[in-house]
Formats: sequence, structure tokens, C-alpha cells
Amino acid sequence: MTTVLITGANRGLGLEFARQYAADGAEVIGCCRNPAAADKLADLGVRVEQLDVTDAESVARLCVALADTPIDILIANAGFYGPEAQDADLADFDGFIETFRINSLGPLMVAQALKLNLMGGRDKKLVVITSKMGSISDSSGGFLAYRSSKAALNMIAHGLALAWKKNGIKVAILHPGWVRTDMGGSSAPQSVSESVSGLRDRIAELWPGSSGHFIDYQGNEIGW
Ligand SMILES: NC(=O)c1ccc[n+]([C@@H]2O[C@H](COP(=O)([O-])OP(=O)(O)OC[C@H]3O[C@@H](n4cnc5c(N)ncnc54)[C@H](OP(=O)(O)O)[C@@H]3O)[C@@H](O)[C@H]2O)c1
Repeated sequence: MTTVLITGANRGLGLEFARQYAADGAEVIGCCRNPAAADKLADLGVRVEQLDVTDAESVARLCVALADTPIDILIANAGFYGPEAQDADLADFDGFIETFRINSLGPLMVAQALKLNLMGGRDKKLVVITSKMGSISDSSGGFLAYRSSKAALNMIAHGLALAWKKNGIKVAILHPGWVRTDMGGSSAPQSVSESVSGLRDRIAELWPGSSGHFIDYQGNEIGW
């Protein structure tokens, strides 16, 4: 049985990942900041674990709870769109740093902490949910905290793909499209189910030759 661990699994894309993998018979470990309020995740009947990706103690507690449980697919999905003020002329710097802590450093902290669990898994797939908004070559500007945190995430994930190749770990750097979630808003063109089923196809076809590539949920390569 495939074991999939998902961060930010209580709503949005993370919840849909949990729903689809559970429906396929995978063993899902859904992580969220506040399990007591994660009713939709609990209703799926999956294992729920507390995890704030910015909190080293929370990450350490998750490691203890998992012990040597093998993880086939680790999906670093939790994300934050950033503070109100994040533009060229006005920036909320504390909010900026929080955005980096969630979007850039969070996935690295979780991946490092669970590396041995991933190495013990069959698939050894690390998935980071990034955004096309992290592309410098295809940017219309604005939203500097979010964009730069995802650009940093892309570099970190690319670095992990290079460094952990020797450990057999493959890294997918995936853009989900513009999706109707709390973050994406109601006018986004893609549904969560459409996005996540595309992302799952990309995860299924991930192999050493595609590790470290920046692609969207439909498999199109995105410029850095
Ligand atoms: N929706 C889009 O159009 C779109 C486009 C490109 C990329 N993405 C990326 O896709 C991923 C999922 O986005 P979404 O649209 O599903 O967003 P969402 O609906 O806003 O959900 C964000 C999730 O991240 C969790 N989270 C935030 N900070 C966290 C922390 N410190 N520790 C643990 N969990 C935390 C939230 O938990 P709480 O409920 O506790 O806040 C929530 O579960 C994000 O990485 C996002 O950047 C989304």
C-alpha cells in the first residue's frame, strides 16, 4: 500500500489530495495546524497529525509520532499568499518573513525531518507545491512576498533534487494551476478535483529524469 503524507491537508488542494489518495486505497497521513478543527479531513477516515510547518517543535513531534513509518510520497502543500502589503512601494516585512517561513523554509524543514521515512518508502517521491508566480522569467510583477517565497522554494527543491539523487529521492516541483480554493478565489478557472488529478498524474510519472523540473499540473515545463 502506498503511504502519502500531506501538509496543509485540512482544506483546499491538500484536502483534495487526501480525498483522492484515500479513495484510491492509499494510506493517507493528513497533517494540519489544528486537528480539532479539521472536520472534513477527519471525515475521510485518514490518519490526522498536527503540524505547523514553521514550528521546529511541531515538526519534531511529528517525527516522533511517525517513528520509522515509511513514506512513499511526501507532499509539501501548505502555503500562504502573504501579507496585504507586499509590493514595490510598501511592504509588511514581518508578513514577508512569515511568508518565507511557511512557503520556503517549511517544506525544507519537513523534508529534512522526514528524509529517513522517505528513504524507507518504496517510491521515494518528494513533491513541493509551488506556483508559476515563483517564475522570474514569466512574471507580471506584484505580490513580491508570495512570488519571491515560491522562487526560493523552487531553488530549494531543485537543490534537494540534486543532493538527494544519491539517496534515490526524486523531487517534483509542481504548479497546480489557478484553482478555486480560499487562496485562489472563486473566479479561478480550475476546480480542485481537476488540479489534483492532474498533479497526481505528474506525481505518478515522476522518475529520476524528471526530478527537479518545474512543471504545471498538465505536465508543461515552466521557465525558472
Ligand atoms: N489555489 C491556487 O490557485 C494556487 C496556485 C498556485 C499555487 N498554489 C499553492 O498550492 C498550495 C495549496 O494552496 P491552496 O489554494 O489549497 O491554499 P489554501 O486553501 O489557502 O490552504 C492553505 C493550506 O496551508 C495551510 N497552512 C498555512 N500555513 C501553515 C503552516 N504554518 N503550517 C501548516 N499548514 C499551514 C493552511 O492551514 P490553516 O487552515 O491552518 O490555515 C491550509 O491547509 C499552496 O502551497 C499554494 O501556494 C495554489
